[in-house]
Amino acid sequence: MLDLILRQCTLPDGRSGIDIGIRDGRIVAVETGLAAAAGDVIDVAGQLVTPPFVDAHFHMDATLSYGLPRVNQSGTLLEGIALWGELKPQLTQDALVERALAYCDWAAAKGLLAIRSHVDVCDPRLLAVEALLHVKEKVRPYIDLQLVAFPQDGVLRAPGALDNLKRALDMGVDVVGGIPHFERTMADGAESVRILCELAAERGLPVDMHCDESDDPLSRHIETLAFHAQRLGLQGRVAGSHLTSMHSMDNYYVSKLLPLIAEAGVAAIANPLINITLQGRHDTYPKRRGMTRVPELLAAGVPVAFGHDCVMDPWYSLGSGDMLEVAAMGLHVAQMTSQDGMRACFAAVTDTPARILGLDGYGIAPGCRADLVVLQAGDPIEALRLRATRLLVLRAGRIIARTPPAITTLNLPGRPGNVDFRRPL
Ligand code: FE2
Repeated sequence: MLDLILRQCTLPDGRSGIDIGIRDGRIVAVETGLAAAAGDVIDVAGQLVTPPFVDAHFHMDATLSYGLPRVNQSGTLLEGIALWGELKPQLTQDALVERALAYCDWAAAKGLLAIRSHVDVCDPRLLAVEALLHVKEKVRPYIDLQLVAFPQDGVLRAPGALDNLKRALDMGVDVVGGIPHFERTMADGAESVRILCELAAERGLPVDMHCDESDDPLSRHIETLAFHAQRLGLQGRVAGSHLTSMHSMDNYYVSKLLPLIAEAGVAAIANPLINITLQGRHDTYPKRRGMTRVPELLAAGVPVAFGHDCVMDPWYSLGSGDMLEVAAMGLHVAQMTSQDGMRACFAAVTDTPARILGLDGYGIAPGCRADLVVLQAGDPIEALRLRATRLLVLRAGRIIARTPPAITTLNLPGRPGNVDFRRPL
């Protein structure tokens, strides 16, 4: 006896007419014409059913602080950093927890059930770390929240930052972060990468660094990150976030760099909404896009995920936790409009970040946890086009969010009826 069957599902890989059987929070069958008794049966009528969205790069300690203590008037990175500096001394644990939980509500509603969030460890009080560790436990029944110890002001540049970072890891933060391009010199940046990778190797932890988040064509920290990942045997456990300088690098150098990244088993995480708005700000025209070389990284065999990075915080006033919006921006900025390219953009907010985060039991196959999203769309490309409504979100086989379909009732002369923007039959 099953608990639930979802009938007539279309899967992201194109299989259609599939029934998904669920028992005790797990998927036990994925097949056509599933003949079994179940406590509940939902016919999804050919809609796309996907594993949940995964955000590989976020800042939950800053989210939903829009307007505190004031709004970023220019919308630039520098005003954002200044604003975060003004806000930090005013942060309280209660307010941090409340905002993070409110964001997790948005995430659950959007079918975003796994998030890797960086948390600033430069404040010696480690308020944000304590707050987000509390949030991590609180949301565990519906969101997998992974935390990265992130020295926003530079692990070598900010006094006490390395000790704070180690304390954060002692407290249970999962991943070692860094920001080498923000250290005082290129040499200090490289040294920070070495120190942090060795720390991760010692403690058996993954690494995820903000790396080369600039338009400087000579920034080389991703090369150093790949070198240490290789040297220390950290293949498969290291990610470089942003990598925006790669947009501006010399083509010959990139042709050498990409195979080194692939060989070192380092993943890349681009943040399309933020990269397209914060980079290229010193340019006149033509203006650089500032997103890393996504199709080229993929072609070299490097896993590439897209992150949201920011939602309504000092750096970005917009966003709603919608990873389809993130993927759609990535698709446009990288000109990934081929059929394969669009599907790779969908994977960049689902399967690929799930692998980077090392999520257990992710996917649609017998044995996987029954975390599923039913979208008002026929396939991943249509989901991207429509930022499709999340009709149902399931966590461990239980419906945790439900949104009515987006349907407009028309009253046009001679053309009565409804329109929902899906592909005409
Ligand atoms: Fe970031």
